[in-house]
Amino acid sequence: MENSKRVVTLVYGCQMSERDAETLTEITRQLGYSPSDDLETADLVIVNTCCVRESAENKILGKIGELKKLKERNKNVKIAITGCMVQQPGALERLQKRAPHVDIWAGTHNLHDFSALINRVEQGRKVAEVWQESKATLEVIPLAEKGKLHANVNIMYGCDNFCSYCIVPHVRGRERSRKPEEILQEIKSLVDSGCREITLLGQNVNSYGKEFSPAYDFADLLHQVDQIPFLLRIRFITSHPKDLSDKLIKTVAEGKNLCEHFHLPIQSGSNFILERMNRKYTREYYLSRVQEIREFIPNASITTDIIVGFPGESEEDFEQTLAMMKEAHYAQAFTFMYSKRSGTLAAKMEDQISLDVKKRRLQILMGVQNQESLEWRQHMIGEILEVLVEGPSKTNPERLTGRTRGNELVVFKGDFETIGSLVNVRIKEAGSWTLIGEVE
Ligand code: 5AD
Ligand code: SF4
Repeated sequence: MENSKRVVTLVYGCQMSERDAETLTEITRQLGYSPSDDLETADLVIVNTCCVRESAENKILGKIGELKKLKERNKNVKIAITGCMVQQPGALERLQKRAPHVDIWAGTHNLHDFSALINRVEQGRKVAEVWQESKATLEVIPLAEKGKLHANVNIMYGCDNFCSYCIVPHVRGRERSRKPEEILQEIKSLVDSGCREITLLGQNVNSYGKEFSPAYDFADLLHQVDQIPFLLRIRFITSHPKDLSDKLIKTVAEGKNLCEHFHLPIQSGSNFILERMNRKYTREYYLSRVQEIREFIPNASITTDIIVGFPGESEEDFEQTLAMMKEAHYAQAFTFMYSKRSGTLAAKMEDQISLDVKKRRLQILMGVQNQESLEWRQHMIGEILEVLVEGPSKTNPERLTGRTRGNELVVFKGDFETIGSLVNVRIKEAGSWTLIGEVE
């Protein structure tokens, strides 16, 4: 591969964005590019973008600026900016003006057609394709890179929920579910190539298949995926609390390889704010879902997303979010300051919260959650947990690292021959972010 062209793919944002970036890399591989992480020798640089918060956009704009300098050093390098940020209504023109050095602009609905865009650019043209909706058949997406232990598998695209703060429904379109047989086929083929753990991806996996007739829902899909031989673990994200069914909880409880981990974003603990966010549940309903999970799966790990400083959030509303964290006993929480996204309903709300207040609330929230997470992990000291061995630890190459079924990272003493398989690890210590243990 000495003379082959090289592609560097940079990715920002959620697992959907990562999965899209893998698809793009795979498309370029089929065109003769080999993946690399050295910008200086790249022939093509792809930046798959995120626009969920302003902070992500600022980082990406900084990176696009750096790529301008790269292009000054190497006129032949082609630059592609793809994904959510490009798909935002009205964004393309603004971005093109700001970054004339970019060769390819492609929105989220144009990724399947990336090879045609590259061909045009290789002939010396600049291209921009941002369709307003998805026209491609969902099933013709190339597979992600094979041979890895873990893979992300899309089961659905888009989102119909329109939470008032969120740009996702505006850039990823309406909800579409992939056919079960196509998903099962993709997973089997990943397993044949050595994959042992998959994460099923959707903005709201609990509404998977709602358009199918005869009825077939997410629990049915999980049950079928659980029958695939040699697949050791099945994860899924994200669960919307309003659609988390008893059937799903029971399916996970009874499953073989279905990991007992629910990512269940609460966003706020105040009913007033939840209503303004258009989340369609109350804190009481949410807590009843948490209780239901804990009843059927006592050791389940529950993680969440929380936004502070949503328009109109009073000190009292914020206190309710803090109280919620203590009641739900999250293993982990991803906490964010509200970021105004133009085109969303919340952006037009009047009582926006100042940056200072948002920062202060975020600090307090993170402090409470760090304590909760530590307590969660400390409970595991002395337990023997099943770990899928991923490889040497980055911080200590003499130790191995892997994850529990609850998705906790474990660093442990063990045999390097076990990489790629399941081992039982006795937990000895709970560090700030990881568990520390020894193979039994
Ligand atoms: N500001 C801050 N956080 C947001 N999220 C989505 N939109 C915004 C926004 N405008 C968060 C939510 C979601 C996670 C993926 O990102 O918590 O669950
Ligand atoms: Fe955004 Fe709400 Fe859809 Fe999640 S469910 S992607 S927060 S609109």
